[in-house]
Amino acid sequence: APTFLWGGRFTEAIDDLMFQFNESLSFDKVLYKADIHGSITWAKALHKLNILNDEELNQVVTGLQQVEKEWEEGKFVIDTKSDEDIHTANERRLGEIIGAAAGKLHTGRSRNEQVGVDMRLWAGEQLDQLAAILKDVLATTAAKAKDHLPVLMPGYTHLQRAQPVRFSHWLLSHATFLIGDLNRLQGVQERTSACPLGVGALAGNPFGIDREFMAKDLGFKSVHPNSLCAVADRDFVVDILQWASLLMAHLSRLSEDLILFSTAEFGFVQVADAYSTGSSLMPQKKNPDSLELIRGKAGRVMGQSTGFLSSLKSLPTSYNKDLQESVEPLIDCIKTVSQCLRITQGVLATLKVYPEKMKAALTDDMLATDVADYLVRKGVPFRQTHHIAGAIVRKGEEAGLPISKLSVKDLKEISPLFEDDIAEVFDFERSVEQRSTLGGTSSSSVLAQIASIEKLLSQQ
Ligand code: ARG
Repeated sequence: APTFLWGGRFTEAIDDLMFQFNESLSFDKVLYKADIHGSITWAKALHKLNILNDEELNQVVTGLQQVEKEWEEGKFVIDTKSDEDIHTANERRLGEIIGAAAGKLHTGRSRNEQVGVDMRLWAGEQLDQLAAILKDVLATTAAKAKDHLPVLMPGYTHLQRAQPVRFSHWLLSHATFLIGDLNRLQGVQERTSACPLGVGALAGNPFGIDREFMAKDLGFKSVHPNSLCAVADRDFVVDILQWASLLMAHLSRLSEDLILFSTAEFGFVQVADAYSTGSSLMPQKKNPDSLELIRGKAGRVMGQSTGFLSSLKSLPTSYNKDLQESVEPLIDCIKTVSQCLRITQGVLATLKVYPEKMKAALTDDMLATDVADYLVRKGVPFRQTHHIAGAIVRKGEEAGLPISKLSVKDLKEISPLFEDDIAEVFDFERSVEQRSTLGGTSSSSVLAQIASIEKLLSQQ
Protein backbone atom coordinates (compact mmCIF):
# COMPACT_ATOMS: atom_id res chain seq x y z
CA ALA A 1 0.00 0.00 0.00
CA PRO A 2 1.25 3.51 -0.73
CA THR A 3 2.42 5.42 2.30
CA PHE A 4 0.75 8.70 3.09
CA LEU A 5 2.20 11.54 5.09
CA TRP A 6 -0.59 11.00 7.55
CA GLY A 7 -0.46 7.19 7.50
CA GLY A 8 1.09 6.36 10.91
CA ARG A 9 -2.08 5.25 12.64
CA PHE A 10 -3.49 3.42 9.63
CA THR A 11 -3.23 -0.32 9.01
CA GLU A 12 -5.25 -0.64 5.81
CA ALA A 13 -4.80 0.93 2.41
CA ILE A 14 -7.17 3.58 1.17
CA ASP A 15 -9.93 2.44 -1.16
CA ASP A 16 -9.07 3.26 -4.80
CA LEU A 17 -12.26 5.18 -5.45
CA MET A 18 -11.88 6.99 -2.12
CA PHE A 19 -8.42 8.10 -3.19
CA GLN A 20 -9.80 9.53 -6.43
CA PHE A 21 -12.65 11.12 -4.55
CA ASN A 22 -10.41 12.72 -1.97
CA GLU A 23 -7.48 13.85 -4.09
CA SER A 24 -7.27 17.48 -5.12
CA LEU A 25 -3.92 17.53 -6.92
CA SER A 26 -5.66 17.24 -10.29
CA PHE A 27 -6.93 20.77 -9.78
CA ASP A 28 -4.93 22.33 -6.94
CA LYS A 29 -1.67 21.80 -8.81
CA VAL A 30 -2.16 25.33 -10.20
CA LEU A 31 -1.20 26.41 -6.67
CA TYR A 32 2.29 24.87 -6.96
CA LYS A 33 4.17 28.15 -7.01
CA ALA A 34 2.22 29.65 -4.12
CA ASP A 35 2.71 26.42 -2.15
CA ILE A 36 6.46 26.50 -2.70
CA HIS A 37 6.79 30.17 -1.84
CA GLY A 38 4.72 29.62 1.32
CA SER A 39 7.05 26.75 2.27
CA ILE A 40 10.20 28.80 1.67
CA THR A 41 8.87 31.50 3.97
CA TRP A 42 7.88 28.86 6.51
CA ALA A 43 11.41 27.42 6.38
CA LYS A 44 12.89 30.87 6.99
CA ALA A 45 10.62 31.30 10.02
CA LEU A 46 11.68 27.87 11.36
CA HIS A 47 15.30 28.91 10.86
CA LYS A 48 14.69 32.03 12.95
CA LEU A 49 13.57 29.62 15.72
CA ASN A 50 16.66 27.41 15.22
CA ILE A 51 14.41 24.51 14.24
CA LEU A 52 16.26 24.44 10.92
CA ASN A 53 20.02 25.19 11.00
CA ASP A 54 21.78 27.16 8.23
CA GLU A 55 22.63 24.02 6.30
CA GLU A 56 19.09 22.63 6.53
CA LEU A 57 17.51 25.92 5.50
CA ASN A 58 19.78 26.05 2.50
CA GLN A 59 18.88 22.48 1.53
CA VAL A 60 15.14 23.10 1.92
CA VAL A 61 15.19 26.32 -0.09
CA THR A 62 17.34 24.93 -2.93
CA GLY A 63 15.28 21.75 -2.96
CA LEU A 64 12.01 23.67 -3.14
CA GLN A 65 13.38 25.83 -5.94
CA GLN A 66 14.16 22.66 -7.86
CA VAL A 67 10.63 21.37 -7.30
CA GLU A 68 9.30 24.69 -8.60
CA LYS A 69 11.50 24.38 -11.68
CA GLU A 70 10.19 20.88 -12.31
CA TRP A 71 6.60 22.15 -12.27
CA GLU A 72 7.50 25.07 -14.49
CA GLU A 73 9.18 22.87 -17.07
CA GLY A 74 6.40 20.30 -16.96
CA LYS A 75 8.80 17.72 -15.54
CA PHE A 76 7.17 17.16 -12.16
CA VAL A 77 6.18 13.51 -12.00
CA ILE A 78 2.98 13.02 -10.07
CA ASP A 79 2.72 9.87 -7.97
CA THR A 80 -0.85 8.98 -8.83
CA LYS A 81 -1.04 6.51 -5.94
CA SER A 82 0.05 8.78 -3.11
CA ASP A 83 0.08 12.46 -4.06
CA GLU A 84 -3.13 13.63 -2.45
CA ASP A 85 -2.83 17.36 -2.97
CA ILE A 86 -0.28 19.99 -3.94
CA HIS A 87 1.07 20.18 -0.38
CA THR A 88 1.80 16.47 -0.03
CA ALA A 89 3.12 16.24 -3.59
CA ASN A 90 5.64 19.03 -3.09
CA GLU A 91 6.77 17.71 0.29
CA ARG A 92 7.13 14.17 -1.05
CA ARG A 93 9.27 15.40 -3.93
CA LEU A 94 11.37 17.63 -1.66
CA GLY A 95 12.14 14.56 0.48
CA GLU A 96 13.30 12.65 -2.59
CA ILE A 97 15.63 15.51 -3.52
CA ILE A 98 17.14 16.54 -0.17
CA GLY A 99 16.46 13.62 2.19
CA ALA A 100 16.12 13.94 5.95
CA ALA A 101 15.98 17.75 6.23
CA ALA A 102 12.66 17.72 4.33
CA GLY A 103 11.11 15.96 7.30
CA LYS A 104 11.62 19.05 9.46
CA LEU A 105 9.84 21.47 7.12
CA HIS A 106 6.31 20.70 8.28
CA THR A 107 7.16 21.32 11.98
CA GLY A 108 4.19 22.99 13.65
CA ARG A 109 2.46 23.48 10.33
CA SER A 110 -0.82 22.06 9.07
CA ARG A 111 -2.17 21.72 5.57
CA ASN A 112 -5.19 23.56 6.92
CA GLU A 113 -3.20 26.79 7.08
CA GLN A 114 -1.12 25.89 4.03
CA VAL A 115 -4.10 25.60 1.70
CA GLY A 116 -5.40 28.96 2.90
CA VAL A 117 -2.04 30.61 2.22
CA ASP A 118 -1.75 29.00 -1.21
CA MET A 119 -5.25 29.95 -2.31
CA ARG A 120 -4.95 33.52 -1.08
CA LEU A 121 -1.55 34.04 -2.71
CA TRP A 122 -2.73 32.56 -5.98
CA ALA A 123 -6.04 34.42 -5.95
CA GLY A 124 -4.29 37.70 -5.09
CA GLU A 125 -2.11 37.42 -8.16
CA GLN A 126 -5.07 36.47 -10.34
CA LEU A 127 -7.12 39.40 -9.06
CA ASP A 128 -4.28 41.77 -9.95
CA GLN A 129 -4.44 40.40 -13.47
CA LEU A 130 -8.22 40.73 -13.61
CA ALA A 131 -7.92 44.36 -12.52
CA ALA A 132 -5.48 44.99 -15.36
CA ILE A 133 -7.79 43.37 -17.95
CA LEU A 134 -10.78 45.24 -16.59
CA LYS A 135 -8.84 48.47 -17.09
CA ASP A 136 -8.11 47.42 -20.67
CA VAL A 137 -11.83 46.98 -21.27
CA LEU A 138 -12.50 50.43 -19.81
CA ALA A 139 -9.77 51.98 -21.94
CA THR A 140 -11.20 50.38 -25.08
CA THR A 141 -14.71 51.53 -24.19
CA ALA A 142 -13.57 55.10 -23.57
CA ALA A 143 -11.63 55.18 -26.85
CA LYS A 144 -14.60 53.80 -28.79
CA ALA A 145 -16.88 56.38 -27.17
CA LYS A 146 -14.49 59.16 -28.12
CA ASP A 147 -14.29 57.96 -31.74
CA HIS A 148 -18.06 57.87 -32.14
CA LEU A 149 -19.03 61.02 -30.29
CA PRO A 150 -21.28 62.43 -33.08
CA VAL A 151 -23.34 59.24 -33.45
CA LEU A 152 -26.93 59.43 -32.19
CA MET A 153 -29.18 56.47 -31.49
CA PRO A 154 -32.53 55.82 -29.89
CA GLY A 155 -32.33 55.46 -26.13
CA TYR A 156 -34.72 52.84 -24.78
CA THR A 157 -36.68 52.13 -21.65
CA HIS A 158 -38.73 48.91 -21.56
CA LEU A 159 -37.02 48.31 -24.95
CA GLN A 160 -39.37 50.97 -26.33
CA ARG A 161 -37.93 54.01 -28.08
CA ALA A 162 -37.67 56.73 -25.46
CA GLN A 163 -35.34 59.66 -26.14
CA PRO A 164 -32.36 60.18 -28.43
CA VAL A 165 -28.95 59.61 -26.85
CA ARG A 166 -25.38 59.49 -28.03
CA PHE A 167 -24.08 56.02 -28.90
CA SER A 168 -21.06 56.98 -26.78
CA HIS A 169 -23.34 57.64 -23.84
CA TRP A 170 -24.84 54.19 -24.18
CA LEU A 171 -21.35 52.65 -24.29
CA LEU A 172 -20.30 54.61 -21.23
CA SER A 173 -23.37 53.44 -19.35
CA HIS A 174 -21.84 49.96 -19.49
CA ALA A 175 -18.39 51.30 -18.62
CA THR A 176 -19.90 52.93 -15.55
CA PHE A 177 -21.03 49.54 -14.25
CA LEU A 178 -17.52 48.22 -14.82
CA ILE A 179 -16.00 51.10 -12.87
CA GLY A 180 -18.13 49.94 -9.94
CA ASP A 181 -16.65 46.46 -10.38
CA LEU A 182 -13.14 47.85 -10.42
CA ASN A 183 -13.79 49.79 -7.22
CA ARG A 184 -15.34 46.80 -5.47
CA LEU A 185 -12.41 44.66 -6.53
CA GLN A 186 -10.09 46.71 -4.34
CA GLY A 187 -12.01 45.66 -1.24
CA VAL A 188 -11.97 42.02 -2.35
CA GLN A 189 -8.20 42.20 -2.89
CA GLU A 190 -7.70 43.73 0.52
CA ARG A 191 -9.71 41.02 2.30
CA THR A 192 -8.04 38.23 0.32
CA SER A 193 -4.66 39.49 1.46
CA ALA A 194 -4.81 38.23 5.09
CA CYS A 195 -2.16 35.66 5.96
CA PRO A 196 -3.25 32.53 7.85
CA LEU A 197 0.28 31.10 8.10
CA GLY A 198 1.22 30.20 11.66
CA VAL A 199 -2.24 29.26 12.94
CA GLY A 200 -1.57 25.50 12.99
CA ALA A 201 -4.30 22.97 12.34
CA LEU A 202 -6.75 25.03 14.40
CA ALA A 203 -5.29 26.14 17.75
CA GLY A 204 -2.20 28.21 16.94
CA ASN A 205 1.56 27.64 16.86
CA PRO A 206 3.45 26.35 19.92
CA PHE A 207 6.97 27.36 18.80
CA GLY A 208 6.50 31.13 18.78
CA ILE A 209 6.62 31.34 14.99
CA ASP A 210 6.85 34.92 13.73
CA ARG A 211 3.56 35.43 11.93
CA GLU A 212 4.22 39.09 11.09
CA PHE A 213 7.50 38.17 9.46
CA MET A 214 5.85 35.47 7.33
CA ALA A 215 2.96 37.68 6.23
CA LYS A 216 5.38 40.40 5.20
CA ASP A 217 7.75 38.00 3.49
CA LEU A 218 4.89 36.72 1.33
CA GLY A 219 3.57 40.20 0.55
CA PHE A 220 0.31 39.91 2.52
CA LYS A 221 -1.38 43.10 3.71
CA SER A 222 -2.45 41.70 7.09
CA VAL A 223 -2.14 38.73 9.47
CA HIS A 224 -5.28 36.64 10.00
CA PRO A 225 -6.31 37.36 13.58
CA ASN A 226 -7.91 34.08 14.79
CA SER A 227 -6.58 30.56 14.30
CA LEU A 228 -9.96 28.78 14.47
CA CYS A 229 -11.43 31.21 11.99
CA ALA A 230 -8.34 31.24 9.77
CA VAL A 231 -8.52 27.51 8.93
CA ALA A 232 -12.29 27.76 8.37
CA ASP A 233 -12.21 30.97 6.43
CA ARG A 234 -13.14 30.87 2.77
CA ASP A 235 -14.94 34.21 2.87
CA PHE A 236 -12.40 35.50 0.39
CA VAL A 237 -13.61 32.84 -2.05
CA VAL A 238 -17.24 33.84 -1.53
CA ASP A 239 -16.16 37.46 -1.91
CA ILE A 240 -14.49 36.70 -5.23
CA LEU A 241 -17.39 34.59 -6.51
CA GLN A 242 -19.95 37.22 -5.56
CA TRP A 243 -17.86 40.03 -6.99
CA ALA A 244 -17.48 37.98 -10.16
CA SER A 245 -21.23 37.26 -10.29
CA LEU A 246 -22.07 40.94 -10.41
CA LEU A 247 -19.32 41.66 -12.92
CA MET A 248 -20.66 38.84 -15.09
CA ALA A 249 -24.17 40.26 -14.80
CA HIS A 250 -22.77 43.50 -16.21
CA LEU A 251 -20.93 41.78 -19.05
CA SER A 252 -24.06 39.77 -19.77
CA ARG A 253 -26.24 42.88 -19.99
CA LEU A 254 -23.78 44.52 -22.37
CA SER A 255 -23.76 41.31 -24.40
CA GLU A 256 -27.53 41.23 -24.52
CA ASP A 257 -27.68 44.81 -25.84
CA LEU A 258 -25.09 44.03 -28.49
CA ILE A 259 -26.78 40.79 -29.53
CA LEU A 260 -30.02 42.70 -29.98
CA PHE A 261 -28.37 45.64 -31.76
CA SER A 262 -26.64 43.28 -34.17
CA THR A 263 -29.89 41.68 -35.39
CA ALA A 264 -31.05 42.65 -38.90
CA GLU A 265 -34.06 44.27 -37.25
CA PHE A 266 -31.81 46.79 -35.49
CA GLY A 267 -28.63 46.65 -37.56
CA PHE A 268 -26.92 49.21 -35.31
CA VAL A 269 -23.70 47.24 -34.95
CA GLN A 270 -21.97 44.21 -36.34
CA VAL A 271 -19.74 41.87 -34.36
CA ALA A 272 -16.48 41.28 -36.23
CA ASP A 273 -15.91 37.93 -37.94
CA ALA A 274 -13.16 37.24 -35.42
CA TYR A 275 -15.75 37.04 -32.64
CA SER A 276 -18.54 35.32 -34.57
CA THR A 277 -19.22 31.88 -35.95
CA GLY A 278 -21.29 30.57 -38.79
CA SER A 279 -23.96 27.94 -39.19
CA SER A 280 -23.18 24.45 -40.47
CA LEU A 281 -26.49 24.48 -42.32
CA MET A 282 -27.44 28.05 -43.21
CA PRO A 283 -24.73 29.68 -45.32
CA GLN A 284 -25.87 33.24 -44.67
CA LYS A 285 -25.59 33.06 -40.88
CA LYS A 286 -23.15 35.01 -38.76
CA ASN A 287 -23.82 34.49 -35.10
CA PRO A 288 -22.52 36.55 -32.16
CA ASP A 289 -21.40 33.44 -30.25
CA SER A 290 -18.82 35.40 -28.27
CA LEU A 291 -21.52 37.48 -26.63
CA GLU A 292 -23.90 34.55 -26.18
CA LEU A 293 -21.18 32.62 -24.38
CA ILE A 294 -20.53 35.55 -22.06
CA ARG A 295 -24.26 35.76 -21.33
CA GLY A 296 -24.37 32.01 -20.71
CA LYS A 297 -21.25 31.91 -18.57
CA ALA A 298 -22.71 34.55 -16.27
CA GLY A 299 -25.08 31.81 -15.10
CA ARG A 300 -22.17 29.47 -14.52
CA VAL A 301 -20.37 31.95 -12.24
CA MET A 302 -23.55 32.78 -10.31
CA GLY A 303 -24.06 29.05 -9.83
CA GLN A 304 -20.55 28.68 -8.45
CA SER A 305 -21.23 31.48 -6.01
CA THR A 306 -24.49 29.99 -4.77
CA GLY A 307 -23.07 26.48 -4.87
CA PHE A 308 -20.07 27.12 -2.68
CA LEU A 309 -21.97 29.31 -0.25
CA SER A 310 -24.36 26.38 0.22
CA SER A 311 -21.41 24.08 0.99
CA LEU A 312 -20.14 26.58 3.52
CA LYS A 313 -23.26 27.53 5.40
CA SER A 314 -23.60 24.69 7.91
CA LEU A 315 -19.97 23.82 8.59
CA PRO A 316 -18.99 23.41 12.20
CA THR A 317 -16.05 25.34 13.65
CA SER A 318 -12.60 25.28 12.06
CA TYR A 319 -11.43 23.06 9.21
CA ASN A 320 -13.69 20.54 7.48
CA LYS A 321 -12.94 18.82 4.21
CA ASP A 322 -16.03 20.42 2.66
CA LEU A 323 -13.80 23.48 2.34
CA GLN A 324 -11.91 21.77 -0.45
CA GLU A 325 -15.04 22.42 -2.51
CA SER A 326 -13.98 26.07 -2.65
CA VAL A 327 -10.96 25.37 -4.82
CA GLU A 328 -12.52 24.31 -8.13
CA PRO A 329 -15.12 27.10 -8.34
CA LEU A 330 -12.43 29.64 -7.47
CA ILE A 331 -10.12 28.43 -10.23
CA ASP A 332 -12.89 28.09 -12.80
CA CYS A 333 -14.50 31.41 -11.94
CA ILE A 334 -11.25 33.31 -12.36
CA LYS A 335 -10.56 31.62 -15.67
CA THR A 336 -14.09 32.37 -16.87
CA VAL A 337 -14.02 36.02 -15.82
CA SER A 338 -10.61 36.53 -17.37
CA GLN A 339 -11.76 35.05 -20.69
CA CYS A 340 -15.04 36.97 -20.69
CA LEU A 341 -13.29 40.28 -20.03
CA ARG A 342 -10.76 39.70 -22.78
CA ILE A 343 -13.43 38.65 -25.25
CA THR A 344 -15.53 41.70 -24.34
CA GLN A 345 -12.50 43.88 -24.96
CA GLY A 346 -11.93 42.29 -28.36
CA VAL A 347 -15.58 42.48 -29.38
CA LEU A 348 -15.74 46.19 -28.48
CA ALA A 349 -12.44 47.06 -30.13
CA THR A 350 -13.51 45.46 -33.42
CA LEU A 351 -17.23 46.26 -33.32
CA LYS A 352 -18.57 47.84 -36.51
CA VAL A 353 -20.94 50.72 -35.86
CA TYR A 354 -23.62 51.81 -38.34
CA PRO A 355 -24.53 55.44 -37.55
CA GLU A 356 -27.00 55.67 -40.46
CA LYS A 357 -29.00 52.73 -39.13
CA MET A 358 -29.16 54.31 -35.70
CA LYS A 359 -30.19 57.64 -37.18
CA ALA A 360 -32.91 55.97 -39.23
CA ALA A 361 -34.35 54.49 -36.06
CA LEU A 362 -34.85 57.93 -34.51
CA THR A 363 -38.48 58.98 -34.77
CA ASP A 364 -40.05 62.35 -34.05
CA ASP A 365 -42.25 61.00 -31.28
CA MET A 366 -39.01 60.58 -29.29
CA LEU A 367 -39.00 64.38 -29.08
CA ALA A 368 -42.42 64.58 -27.37
CA THR A 369 -40.71 65.30 -24.04
CA ASP A 370 -38.84 68.16 -25.73
CA VAL A 371 -42.18 69.53 -26.96
CA ALA A 372 -43.47 69.43 -23.39
CA ASP A 373 -40.26 71.12 -22.20
CA TYR A 374 -40.80 73.89 -24.83
CA LEU A 375 -44.04 74.82 -23.09
CA VAL A 376 -42.42 74.48 -19.65
CA ARG A 377 -40.03 77.20 -20.77
CA LYS A 378 -43.12 79.33 -21.49
CA GLY A 379 -44.29 78.90 -17.93
CA VAL A 380 -46.81 76.05 -18.33
CA PRO A 381 -46.71 73.53 -15.44
CA PHE A 382 -45.10 70.28 -16.61
CA ARG A 383 -48.11 68.10 -15.83
CA GLN A 384 -50.14 70.19 -18.31
CA THR A 385 -47.38 70.24 -20.92
CA HIS A 386 -47.11 66.45 -20.67
CA HIS A 387 -50.80 66.21 -21.44
CA ILE A 388 -50.56 68.69 -24.32
CA ALA A 389 -47.57 66.89 -25.89
CA GLY A 390 -49.48 63.62 -25.51
CA ALA A 391 -52.40 65.13 -27.42
CA ILE A 392 -49.98 66.18 -30.17
CA VAL A 393 -48.63 62.66 -30.48
CA ARG A 394 -52.20 61.39 -30.78
CA LYS A 395 -53.04 64.03 -33.38
CA GLY A 396 -49.99 63.01 -35.41
CA GLU A 397 -51.01 59.38 -35.22
CA GLU A 398 -54.56 60.23 -36.35
CA ALA A 399 -53.25 62.34 -39.23
CA GLY A 400 -50.69 59.69 -40.13
CA LEU A 401 -47.92 62.30 -39.81
CA PRO A 402 -44.77 62.57 -37.71
CA ILE A 403 -45.36 65.27 -35.08
CA SER A 404 -42.78 67.53 -36.73
CA LYS A 405 -44.97 67.65 -39.84
CA LEU A 406 -48.04 69.00 -38.03
CA SER A 407 -48.60 72.67 -38.85
CA VAL A 408 -48.19 75.37 -36.22
CA LYS A 409 -51.90 76.02 -36.76
CA ASP A 410 -52.64 72.38 -35.80
CA LEU A 411 -50.47 72.79 -32.73
CA LYS A 412 -52.07 76.08 -31.71
CA GLU A 413 -55.42 74.29 -31.64
CA ILE A 414 -54.02 72.22 -28.81
CA SER A 415 -52.17 75.09 -27.10
CA PRO A 416 -52.09 78.73 -28.20
CA LEU A 417 -48.59 79.06 -26.82
CA PHE A 418 -46.97 77.25 -29.77
CA GLU A 419 -45.09 79.62 -32.12
CA ASP A 420 -43.03 79.17 -35.27
CA ASP A 421 -39.94 78.50 -33.15
CA ILE A 422 -41.38 75.07 -32.24
CA ALA A 423 -39.68 73.92 -35.46
CA GLU A 424 -36.31 74.16 -33.68
CA VAL A 425 -37.44 71.52 -31.17
CA PHE A 426 -37.70 68.85 -33.85
CA ASP A 427 -33.97 68.32 -33.94
CA PHE A 428 -32.38 65.23 -32.37
CA GLU A 429 -28.99 66.86 -32.04
CA ARG A 430 -30.54 69.78 -30.16
CA SER A 431 -32.45 67.44 -27.88
CA VAL A 432 -29.27 65.58 -26.98
CA GLU A 433 -27.23 68.75 -26.50
CA GLN A 434 -29.82 70.17 -24.09
CA ARG A 435 -28.98 67.36 -21.67
CA SER A 436 -25.71 68.89 -20.61
CA THR A 437 -25.75 68.51 -16.85
CA LEU A 438 -23.40 66.06 -15.18
CA GLY A 439 -24.01 62.52 -16.43
CA GLY A 440 -26.20 63.62 -19.35
CA THR A 441 -25.94 62.68 -22.99
CA SER A 442 -24.68 66.00 -24.45
CA SER A 443 -21.22 65.96 -26.01
CA SER A 444 -19.71 67.97 -23.15
CA SER A 445 -21.19 65.57 -20.56
CA VAL A 446 -20.01 62.55 -22.52
CA LEU A 447 -16.51 64.00 -22.91
CA ALA A 448 -16.41 64.66 -19.17
CA GLN A 449 -17.25 61.00 -18.52
CA ILE A 450 -14.51 59.90 -20.90
CA ALA A 451 -12.04 62.21 -19.19
CA SER A 452 -12.91 60.81 -15.78
CA ILE A 453 -12.34 57.24 -17.01
CA GLU A 454 -9.02 58.29 -18.50
CA LYS A 455 -8.08 59.89 -15.20
CA LEU A 456 -9.05 56.77 -13.26
CA LEU A 457 -6.95 54.60 -15.58
CA SER A 458 -3.92 56.87 -15.32
CA GLN A 459 -4.08 56.95 -11.52
CA GLN A 460 -4.01 53.25 -10.83
N1 ARG B 1 -6.82 19.80 -0.20
C1 ARG B 1 -7.21 20.31 1.07
C2 ARG B 1 -8.19 21.49 0.89
O1 ARG B 1 -8.32 21.97 -0.18
C3 ARG B 1 -6.02 20.76 1.81
C4 ARG B 1 -6.17 20.71 3.30
C5 ARG B 1 -6.26 19.32 3.77
N2 ARG B 1 -6.26 19.25 5.19
C6 ARG B 1 -6.65 18.17 5.82
N3 ARG B 1 -6.61 18.18 7.10
N4 ARG B 1 -7.09 17.12 5.19
O2 ARG B 1 -8.85 21.93 1.82
